[in-house]
Amino acid sequence: EKGGYEHFMLKEIHEQPTALRDTLLPLINHQEGEAPSLREDMMPLGADEVRKIEHISILACGTASHAGLIGKAMIEKYARIPVDVDIGSEYRYRDPIVQPNTLFIVISQSGETADTIAALRDAQQKGATVLAITNVVGSTISREADKVIYTWAGPEIAVASTKAYISQLMVLYVLMLDFCLKRGKMDAAQVSGILGELLELPQKAQLILDQKDAVQKFAHQFFDREHAFYLGRGVDYSLAMEASLKLKEISYVHSEAYAAGELKHGTIALIEEGTLVVALATQDALFEKMLSNITEVKVRGAKVLALVNDGNHQIDNEVDYVWYLPPVSNMLAPMLAIIPMQLLAYYISLEKGCDIDKPRNLAKSVTVE
Ligand code: M6R
Repeated sequence: EKGGYEHFMLKEIHEQPTALRDTLLPLINHQEGEAPSLREDMMPLGADEVRKIEHISILACGTASHAGLIGKAMIEKYARIPVDVDIGSEYRYRDPIVQPNTLFIVISQSGETADTIAALRDAQQKGATVLAITNVVGSTISREADKVIYTWAGPEIAVASTKAYISQLMVLYVLMLDFCLKRGKMDAAQVSGILGELLELPQKAQLILDQKDAVQKFAHQFFDREHAFYLGRGVDYSLAMEASLKLKEISYVHSEAYAAGELKHGTIALIEEGTLVVALATQDALFEKMLSNITEVKVRGAKVLALVNDGNHQIDNEVDYVWYLPPVSNMLAPMLAIIPMQLLAYYISLEKGCDIDKPRNLAKSVTVE
């Protein structure tokens, strides 16, 4: 049942190229020799509905909320619609203000998370339209939402979410492209170009998986650390949150995700000789800033592992280890950058002998508050 892998988590990490493809293909027209385009019949909202949106609220818990943060960044940057992201357990008790023409997007792998369901119901009671992104057909969330768009990651057994997260990102990118097209922020040719890049992601994800031994070696050297810090800016900060959650969830290493610019507002006090710092630096526009944050932790003795774009050698002499992503645009980098982070958490947990698929105190689906 684990398909030859030692754990479901490792199997599911390896299923990500397939999950990306299976989630994308039903949403697009893609014939040999023709430019890919979005399938209008598969888009959850019509052009009039999309043009009316003034505001988007994303509601989710845990990893799904981290996918939501990347969705926010993309939708705001390209479709120019304001988006906020809330975790279900906070949203439901805040008596939130629902502005007119707000679209709610709830994200849930299982479709059964109690706090996400409660937030969905609250939003509906206040008259809002709720679009769900879920992996389980027939789940409570799929039945109660006004519209549904599915991730096709297949059953996710390991408690730590991997292939569901990457599939949620894929759906959010497609939604962003649909919004851009319908609101005149991109033309069909631009959308087609990006869809072409999305179609290449599975193969690039595979390239990362093929290099997993390098991640394992790194894990072997650093699994004994008590603390780890993940730093990033912009989408790399959202990614840092997901990377950090993965590590603490399955390996019980205390870890924190920090917006790199926040370091000097307190956290840098925790950096000492040998502290493990993972620096995510995939965004060109923020690279120089990241570089100076990396130098700040380096001079305080941190061991730094950096994740950068293919061909970026500016950092080679500044840090202890560098991983390079396969060639990918800044826009799509998060979908690849998360994979080495999942592998890192996996191998650290393996070195520590933890129960990887069923970490202590956690359930796969949190159906109680
Ligand atoms: O099924 P859901 O996507 O609603 O679950 C939400 C969280 O409980 C879940 O993502 C959790 O954070 C994962 N175990 C993280 O790996």
